[in-house]
Amino acid sequence: MKIFLDTAEVSEIRRAADAGLIDGVTTNPSLMAKVAGDGDPQDTFMAICDAVDGPVSAEVVALDAEGMVEEGTRLAALADNIVVKLPLTEDGLRACRALTSKGVKTNVTLCFSAPQALLAAKAGATYISPFIGRLDDIGGEGMELIAQIRQVYDNYGIDTQILAASIRHPLHMVESMTIGADCATLPPKVLYQLLKHPLTDKGLEAFLADWKSTGKEL
Ligand code: G3P
Repeated sequence: MKIFLDTAEVSEIRRAADAGLIDGVTTNPSLMAKVAGDGDPQDTFMAICDAVDGPVSAEVVALDAEGMVEEGTRLAALADNIVVKLPLTEDGLRACRALTSKGVKTNVTLCFSAPQALLAAKAGATYISPFIGRLDDIGGEGMELIAQIRQVYDNYGIDTQILAASIRHPLHMVESMTIGADCATLPPKVLYQLLKHPLTDKGLEAFLADWKSTGKEL
């Protein structure tokens, strides 16, 4: 299962990539807005692509298919590892089909139902991003959506990759892994929570105390 970092913070991406914890990055316009400052967004995308050896999702902001294809083509030209992220709308799927036919990788985002995921796959999406946390937020079952899409894609031999998104805590990750999502994108906080276990800390503390009592050095 691939792990992506869901941020546009280049320092966070470098830290996680250097530690070998991530296989790629996802961004969205809200995450890009957080780091916008006075800089050029294209420079940010290029710095991210340079920091990680794996796919980097860069989202379009146009609403019409033609504008999305134009923006997507420009984004894809920035680096070899750019994946163009498109919203799950009629125009988004038109743009997905057009970009796919030009050999551009795509991530169809804001997916909240299994039929939407099927339509994105038919449009040639490389990745589909179902949003778990946002469904939970409105009393839905985010995990049920991942399970349904897994089943639909397996039923019909679809190779679009399921990218579990809007992950809010480690349990979302555990469930995505066991259901069989192909990838998950995590905010930095959740990524580092995955590393932690109280018994790891307790065990390490005990090992070091026992070793110290010997008075020896390695
Ligand atoms: O990148 C898309 C997604 O992961 C957003 O998450 O927490 O804003 O719902 P969230």
